[in-house]
Amino acid sequence: VTSVQQSSDIDLFSDAQLEEPYGVFTAIRESAPVVWMSAHQAWASARYGVARSVLRDWETFSSAQGVGLTPELNAMLEGTLLASDPPLHDQLRGILSARLAPKALRSATDFIQREADDLIAELSSVGRFDAISDLAQRFSLGVVSELIGLPEEVRGKLIEWGDATINLLGPLNGLAQTSLPVAEEMFVWLQGVVKSDLVEGGMGRDIYEAAEAGKIDQASAAPLLSAYVAASLDTTTSLLGLAIGLFTEYPDAWRRVREDTATIPSVLLEVARYASPVQWVSRVATVDTDIDGVTIGAGQRVILLLAGANRDPSHYEDADTFDIDRKPVDHLAFSYGVHSCAGQGLARLEATCLFTALAPRVASFELAGTPIRKLSNLTRGWQSLPIQINPA
Ligand code: HEM
Repeated sequence: VTSVQQSSDIDLFSDAQLEEPYGVFTAIRESAPVVWMSAHQAWASARYGVARSVLRDWETFSSAQGVGLTPELNAMLEGTLLASDPPLHDQLRGILSARLAPKALRSATDFIQREADDLIAELSSVGRFDAISDLAQRFSLGVVSELIGLPEEVRGKLIEWGDATINLLGPLNGLAQTSLPVAEEMFVWLQGVVKSDLVEGGMGRDIYEAAEAGKIDQASAAPLLSAYVAASLDTTTSLLGLAIGLFTEYPDAWRRVREDTATIPSVLLEVARYASPVQWVSRVATVDTDIDGVTIGAGQRVILLLAGANRDPSHYEDADTFDIDRKPVDHLAFSYGVHSCAGQGLARLEATCLFTALAPRVASFELAGTPIRKLSNLTRGWQSLPIQINPA
């Protein structure tokens, strides 16, 4: 049993920890409301109540000093959507929300469902495939690059660019170091983007039109475009892969999904809670403050371990059990408060369309090889998930 006191020297980003994080999250949750992590010079909490109240209070726990763990990345994030507080945050977010709101998504539904149907028709005739590279990645990449309206020549780069940007949020470990030159390549491309590079009517072009119309700063356009790229691929791919992995492990859950596909959205809530594709977010205290009796100094960073909070037994009964009847509408997998995921409607829509396409064709999923974990400084998911489907 791992034991953690109010201060701990555990590295939350070692390979072993990324491989199997939940034991340490439990130990952190049980030891104190927040624990000082000396390896990261930051506090961490794995409690549901703490995560939610910190995320609700953006004035005390700010994003404007950056949401990554290194000063280098935080300097680069300055003034971006993810790393800003209201009112700048709300102004930037307004540009994206119009296109990610339910009404806009309804008009994208037919396209997304068609993409899912075509892909699943193709894969189910093959029967055996990798649920990540052949399915989850291919599907989310196809949908997102079409919706953003990205030029063909960069589409092949997006997965790598997205993963790299996400890894940079963590400490400067091996994963982050390998990611630096890759992210650099994306930034170079972004700097050169002009409106006409992006497909007319797409989400990307909207950003540049808003800048032209003076609704946002010219300088904010490229970072907003990169927010789409960084936030939309690895996250969604992780969720889809985690869900399929869980259906191999819990065939009964898949059988019940097939019996009533109207339950797909609520089953996805439980997948998100149980598996937390994004494992953590962070904030910086703007003033000396107190979290359940622990003093947090002004300027200190607090890491909210969303994955740990989502397994908090004081909030969810049998929290370590995957239970598709739970319907956890209040899970924190998309964060909470002003920064709660702007793309969650799209992510849910993609996942719903995909499982709607799978349900009539796939009686069950079986592992066809050893799955490989993807190690990431932010997300949790599979690098490879070899699957054999039993056709319906
Ligand atoms: C399952 C898939 C996804 C998960 C788990 C996820 C998770 C998250 C989380 C945890 C945050 C909050 C960061 C914070 O509080 O500091 C966030 C923010 C964000 N997400 Fe997602 N995301 C997903 C998919 C997407 C997609 C598909 C898009 C884009 C179209 C997207 C766009 C964004 C944006 C733009 C933000 C920044 C919002 C803000 O700062 O106000 N996400 N996401």
